[in-house]
Amino acid sequence: MKQTIIVGGLLIGSFATASAVSGASLKVENLSATNTLVKAMSTDGKYILLPVQENVAPAHIRVLSDGRLDETLNINLAESRVDYYVPLLLDGRNGNDILLDVRTPDKGIVAGEAQPSLWIDEIKIADEFDISNREKYRPAFHHTPDYGWMNDPNGMFFKDGVWHLSYQWNPYGSKWENMSWGHSTSNDLVHWNSQNPVLYGDALGAVFSGSAVVDKNNTAGFGKDAVVALFTSAGASQVQSLAHSSDDGMTYERYPGNPVIAYERESRDPNMFWDAENGRWVLLLASALDHEMLIFTSPDLKEWSLQSKFGNGYGSQTGVWECPDLLRLPVEGTDKEKWVLICNINPGGPFGGSATQYFVGDFDGSKFIADSPAEVTKWMDYGKDHYAAVSFSNAPDDRAIMIGWMSNWEYANDVPTMQFRSANTLPREVSLFEFNDGQTYLASVPAKEVDLLRGTPKHFHPGKVGKGAKRFSLPTANDGICEIEFEADLKKDSNLEIVLSNAEGENVVMTLNAADDTFSMDRRNSGLTDFSEYFPCVTTAPAYNGTGHYKVRIFVDRSSIEAFSADGHFSMTNLVFPTKPYTTMTLSSANGVVKVENLNVYPIKL
Ligand code: FRU
Repeated sequence: MKQTIIVGGLLIGSFATASAVSGASLKVENLSATNTLVKAMSTDGKYILLPVQENVAPAHIRVLSDGRLDETLNINLAESRVDYYVPLLLDGRNGNDILLDVRTPDKGIVAGEAQPSLWIDEIKIADEFDISNREKYRPAFHHTPDYGWMNDPNGMFFKDGVWHLSYQWNPYGSKWENMSWGHSTSNDLVHWNSQNPVLYGDALGAVFSGSAVVDKNNTAGFGKDAVVALFTSAGASQVQSLAHSSDDGMTYERYPGNPVIAYERESRDPNMFWDAENGRWVLLLASALDHEMLIFTSPDLKEWSLQSKFGNGYGSQTGVWECPDLLRLPVEGTDKEKWVLICNINPGGPFGGSATQYFVGDFDGSKFIADSPAEVTKWMDYGKDHYAAVSFSNAPDDRAIMIGWMSNWEYANDVPTMQFRSANTLPREVSLFEFNDGQTYLASVPAKEVDLLRGTPKHFHPGKVGKGAKRFSLPTANDGICEIEFEADLKKDSNLEIVLSNAEGENVVMTLNAADDTFSMDRRNSGLTDFSEYFPCVTTAPAYNGTGHYKVRIFVDRSSIEAFSADGHFSMTNLVFPTKPYTTMTLSSANGVVKVENLNVYPIKL
C-alpha cells in the first residue's frame, strides 16, 4: 500500500512532523519497503533538514531539480534515533520542483509494506540551520568545519592578503562520504572564516583531493590571476579534473574538457606548482597502489605530459601513496637548497595507520632523485595524527607553509565528536637542516602567525628538577587552552618527564630522553581512549638535538597536543580527549638532575 504523508501541512497517515517554516510542506510518498520519494518546492524554505543516525547503513538519495539529476548522496538517515540534522540546500538549485528519490537499505521487509523509519517523521523544511558549537572537544584555535566530516586540506593558496583553505568535506554527515570541497579563509593563518563550499561531485564522480594555483601569466586562458584548481574526480575510476575561478577562489567553474588527466592506474591528489626556470607547470600525482609519484608538466594547466615517476622501492611501501607535494627549501646554515618530495601514506605510519613521509633530493624540472638510499624512511611528524600535509601555493616571500589533517584513518571516523569530525594541524613553516649523521631532514615550526595567539604569559623558574615532581598550574580560561614553552639542559643519560594532568586522574606523559635523544608522548591515560583499539599509544620521535640543550613548545587545544622543538627538529601531533581540561603540569626527572629554565605558559588569546 502506498502511503502519502504531508509533513508540516495537512497530515494524512501516521507519520508527521512539524515544519520549522510555517505553511511549507514536504510531501513524502513511500513507494516500497526500500524506496521513498520526498517532494518540495525550492521556494518552500532554505533547507530540507535531514535527520542522521550515525551507526545505520546509508540511504542512497538522488536529488532532482525539475526532473534533472543534481546530486547523488549517501546519507545515514535516522532509523530509531536522531544524532543530528544535516541541511540540504533548497534555494539556489536550478529548478523549482525538488524531488528526493530515497533508496533505503533493504531490511528484508515484504515488498509493498511501508517501512516505518524515524527519518520520515523528522525530516523538515527550515530557513535556519544552527551551526553554533555543541561540541566540548571542538578545538578553539585549530581550523574545523562548522559541521560535517573533514579530511585532507585541499586547494590551499594565498592571494591578495587572504589564505584559502579548502578541505575534503562531507556536508551530509560526520563520517567520510559525499566528498566535496569546503572552503575557509583567513587573513592571518590562525583565525578562519567559513565560506561557501566550492566544489561538489558531478557526473564524473566525487571531488577528492587536489591543489590550486594562481595563474599569474594567464597560461590557461582563464584570465590573468585566475585561480586554477586540479582535483581528482572519483567515479568508476580516478581521473583529474580542472576548475577555475575568476573571483579569487570564492566560486569555481568546471572546465568542459574534463578530465585533463586520465592515467591508466588508480591515481589521485594532483599537486601543482609553477617552475619558473623551465617556464611551465609541474604536477605530482599519487599512483596510489604502485607506491609511486608521477611527475607531469604542462604549459597551460590543461595539457599534461608524464615526465617521470619516483618511488619504486623507496621509503615506506606498506600503504597507498597519497597527497604528494614537491617543495624547494633552503638548508639552514648553508647557502644550499634542496627539494623535498612529500608523500602521505596509509597505512604504514610509524605508529600505525596514516602518516607523512618525505624524501630529500634534487629535481631538474622533470625528474626527482632522492639523496638517501631507498631503504631510508623519514617522517615529517612523529605523532599519530598528522596526515595529508601539503603546502600553500603562492605564499608571500616564498614561504613554505604546510597544513595537515589532524587525525588518522585508523580511527578518524570514530573519534568522540558528532557535530563535526576532524581539525587541521597548526600551520607549519618548513625548512631543511643537516644533522650529525650526515642526513638532511625536514624541520617544522609553527608559522610565526601562531604567536598572535599568545596571551599574557606566566613565567616560572623551575631550576633543578630531580625525582620529586615540581607542579605548575595551567590556565583555566577557555578549557585551559595554552602554549607551554621551556628550555632544559639534559646530561647524557638523563631524562625529563613533563606530565599534563586533570583532577580526574587523566594525563599525558611526555618524556625528553637524552640517552637516545628522543621525545615521546604517552596518551594511553589521556581521557577517552576506548572508542578505538588503535587510539591508546606512545609515540616517540628522534629529537635530532645533538647538544643536550632542548627548547620545547607544546600547544594544548581542547582535543589535541602538538609538541615541537623550537628549531623544528622534531614535531609530534596527537589527539587527546580529556574528560576535563588538563590543569596541572609537573616536571620531574627519574634519571639525574635536569636544569629547566624559561618556562612560559601562554593562555591562548581567541
Ligand atoms: C587521503 C585521501 C586522498 C583522497 C581523499 C579522499 O586522506 O585518501 O588520497 O583524495 O582522501 O577523501
